Amino acid sequence: MTRRKFIAGNWKMNMTSAGARTLAGGVRERLANFDRADVALCPPFPYLALVGEVIKGSSIAVGAQNVYPESQGAFTGEVNAEMLADVGCRYVIVGHSERRTILGEKDELLNRKVRHSLAHGLHVIFCVGETLEQREANQTESMLDNQLTWGLREIPADQIPNLVIAYEPVWAIGTGRNATAEQAQQAHVFIRWRFSQLYGSEAAQRLVIQYGGSVKPENAAELMRQPDVDGALVGGASLKVDSFVAIVQAAGG
Ligand code: PGA
Repeated sequence: MTRRKFIAGNWKMNMTSAGARTLAGGVRERLANFDRADVALCPPFPYLALVGEVIKGSSIAVGAQNVYPESQGAFTGEVNAEMLADVGCRYVIVGHSERRTILGEKDELLNRKVRHSLAHGLHVIFCVGETLEQREANQTESMLDNQLTWGLREIPADQIPNLVIAYEPVWAIGTGRNATAEQAQQAHVFIRWRFSQLYGSEAAQRLVIQYGGSVKPENAAELMRQPDVDGALVGGASLKVDSFVAIVQAAGG
């Protein structure tokens, strides 16, 4: 089965409103006639609506970088999936390694975030990945297995199509050191296999698995050529129009 490639820009905690307008506007302009891959921009919360406005009427989608899995109420500082959908988000990133490590988010909370977001109609980009220590100790697959098993518990079958997995080896994020195409392919095959055990082989064949970790215009084409690499979650290189657009174009073949 052919899966459509999906490139998402994870802006992390970067940009100003002026910068966000220029970046989103530039991406929109340069991709005006492009439809060979799906594209999303994931700015910080304060710029979601603004970016939504800038890309309105194009095929580019907006995603958030975080969500809190409760309905409205006394949760100071938090934002739920209804609010994200209300300001135009289609996607939300859950389980990014920066949130797992810096913010201390555990599997149980991440699973609640996944289920809450899907239940409210958002598409979830769920991130998994091993540290360098785990890779060197030959624990990559057991780590991925754990993160998938606990993070993706009890998702209703009809919401599975709205799930995207991002394989992001922690040692490749922001380091300039990407996984080789072979390493990425191997991990993606494992993720697809594990997903097929959890949710069936048809769902696994449809599952879009992005690679993330130092994706750049120079390495994008080779990564995207791997049969199980279905796109990319791009951090640093998503902050410049030229590099992000080049990666999207590489994904389009
Ligand atoms: P990077 O980040 O492309 O800057 O390595 C990727 C990510 O953290 O999603």
